[in-house]
Amino acid sequence: MKTAITELFGIQHPITQGGMHYVGFAELAAAVSNAGGLGIITGLTQKTPELLAKEIARCRDMTNKPFGVNLTFLPSFTAPPYPEYIAAIKEGGVKAVETAGRSPEQYMPALKAAGIKVIHKCTSVRHSLKAEKIGCDAVSVDGFECGGHPGEDDIPNMILLPRAADELKIPFVASGGMADARSLVAALAMGAAGMNMGTRFIATKEAPVHPNVKKALVEATELDTRLVMRALRNTERVLKNKGVEEVLEIEREKGGTLKIEDIHDQVAGVYPKVMIEGDMDAGAWSCGMVVGLINDVPTVKELIDRIMADAEAIIRQRLTGFLDGVEVQPARAVA
Ligand SMILES: Cc1cc2nc3c(=O)[nH]c(=O)nc-3n(C[C@H](O)[C@H](O)[C@H](O)COP(=O)(O)O)c2cc1C
Repeated sequence: MKTAITELFGIQHPITQGGMHYVGFAELAAAVSNAGGLGIITGLTQKTPELLAKEIARCRDMTNKPFGVNLTFLPSFTAPPYPEYIAAIKEGGVKAVETAGRSPEQYMPALKAAGIKVIHKCTSVRHSLKAEKIGCDAVSVDGFECGGHPGEDDIPNMILLPRAADELKIPFVASGGMADARSLVAALAMGAAGMNMGTRFIATKEAPVHPNVKKALVEATELDTRLVMRALRNTERVLKNKGVEEVLEIEREKGGTLKIEDIHDQVAGVYPKVMIEGDMDAGAWSCGMVVGLINDVPTVKELIDRIMADAEAIIRQRLTGFLDGVEVQPARAVA
């Protein structure tokens, strides 16, 4: 399949993997890129720019296909040295960066001078337009369903994607709630040039996380995510667990007076406990509503090949069947 996104990044399939803290290591990024998508290393999971440089080198040993690095600008307890992270990306010869959180405006000159394509993840049309204005090459439009930070507007992708298509000139991928061929075809129909997946890629053989995490994703339903940190305007969609119930209880008690320190124990330092140790009750970790569509743990290649084959079947048989007046079966459930 050829779209503006496959052309922009030099990839075979219009599928990108969103940056994921303590998940987006070289193993997963390389697997996605080897399967024809755009794999992404999560920059800030590497505690120093030097470690990121090593992770990039490790990924390069595992794939000769294009891959990218995610740089997240979110409120954090200690601000990372972004210019040095960008230097590591540049020196590692990486040609794609996924930015997220705040506008990457102040870093655009450095990224562009290095010949890096920038795809900025946005949860609103206005932020997408700002990204276009400051020279981003593409945006990842992240709907309210998404795992991670959906912003504060709460607009789901059925509305957000066509709105983005109406306003944007640069290409965009649909992000949030994407799991299978049905997601991809729907995203393309709504004007996107591809799709970005986060949660779905965690439940793959190559995702370097504790087996408990994959098991939890297969078992959870679309009813099992919760929103935390709304009062801090740093809303995050997470998988419910004991730590998250504690956050919600504290949030109910504190109301509008909530401070990040009040929930420090349940939101800080949680990722290594969950992803490495498999402690599923440790606290808040991002997970999308799409978890309700995850029923297996395939290899990344099996997942991507299945998505592309089923997408072709949906387009050529089901959709054209409607036009030809041929009775067609419902799209097969694939996850
Ligand atoms: C466990 C996890 C960790 C994430 N960490 C980050 C991150 O560090 N930076 C970022 O920009 N997005 C992060 N995200 C968001 C994803 O990149 C992506 O936008 C999101 O997962 C898309 O929604 P989906 O989960 O419904 O596919 C994370 C998502 C998950 C599930």
